[in-house]
Amino acid sequence: MKHLIDPTDLSVSEIDSILNLALDIIDDKDKYSEACKGKKLATLFFEPSTRTRLSFEAAMMELGGNVLGFSSADSSSATKGESVGDTVKVVSCYADIIAMRHPKEGAPMYGAMVSDVPVINAGDGGHNHPTQTLTDLLTIKREKGRLDNFTIGLCGDLKFGRTVHSLIKALSRYENIKFILISPKELRVPEYIISEVFEKNNIEYKEVRTMEEVMSELDIIYMTRVQKERFFNEADYVRLKDTYILDMDKLKTAKKDLSILHPLPRVNEISISVDNDPRACYFRQAMNGKFVRMALMLTLLKDNNCKLNLPEDKLAKIGKMGGAD
Ligand code: NCD
Repeated sequence: MKHLIDPTDLSVSEIDSILNLALDIIDDKDKYSEACKGKKLATLFFEPSTRTRLSFEAAMMELGGNVLGFSSADSSSATKGESVGDTVKVVSCYADIIAMRHPKEGAPMYGAMVSDVPVINAGDGGHNHPTQTLTDLLTIKREKGRLDNFTIGLCGDLKFGRTVHSLIKALSRYENIKFILISPKELRVPEYIISEVFEKNNIEYKEVRTMEEVMSELDIIYMTRVQKERFFNEADYVRLKDTYILDMDKLKTAKKDLSILHPLPRVNEISISVDNDPRACYFRQAMNGKFVRMALMLTLLKDNNCKLNLPEDKLAKIGKMGGAD
């Protein structure tokens, strides 16, 4: 059975078919509105979330299915000492698919090992966030019309920001992408990303400390929040939290067709004066998250032999999992 734990669990061709399915859902929503009739999504969120959990739930509702789950560890049997494995094992008796967020890295992978239904990692600690990556890829595809040949600046907390780790892993498989890593020294991308992704695959990257020095080179800037909850020390967080604030002044040297992305939530990293600039994509990006999660759930459910309530032409648009590349 296929799960989605790490962005590289999906081949490039599987990603392409999920993104194309999301585009078809956007164009033809009504045809999909009963696709998951009688199906249930369980959202097991051991860590706070607004966009990810609610977009998963909205996605299942828009497919005609139902949703159950919990939105904090406090309201689950985790408080009684139940293990993640037991929780997932039990919930997989109640639901057809599970989306799970957990503060511990690797917890969703462990859940997937014991689950009888597909498990989707909705964020594990500072590690991975593959459905945010699908959201980011759909946004880039819609805004730029392509997933290759661009320079992307990743700015902010590159150490703890799981969205950045997953996006780098996914984008490293497309042609001619240059990565510019903009962070304070203390929040550099983890060493394993440098050695296992950039160096191993001979990918062009550079590290800088200010966004001003590279702004004019960028086709995309991906802003991130400093991840307060992953700091050991409040004083370090306070010192680093406002290192980068994107405002209209800093955009003076930017390309006219720059795309500004942010997985959200935003704290101070983007001034609200930027929101009305046509280059600000982050609210459109949040909307894309719902469509791409619809496409992902349909793909995993079909792969798990769940009967979907769709006409033949639409069923045929759902790609097979396990494709090689
Ligand atoms: C991100 C996350 O949870 O990692 N949020 C999200 O899912 N859109 C980013 C963040 O919390 O900073």
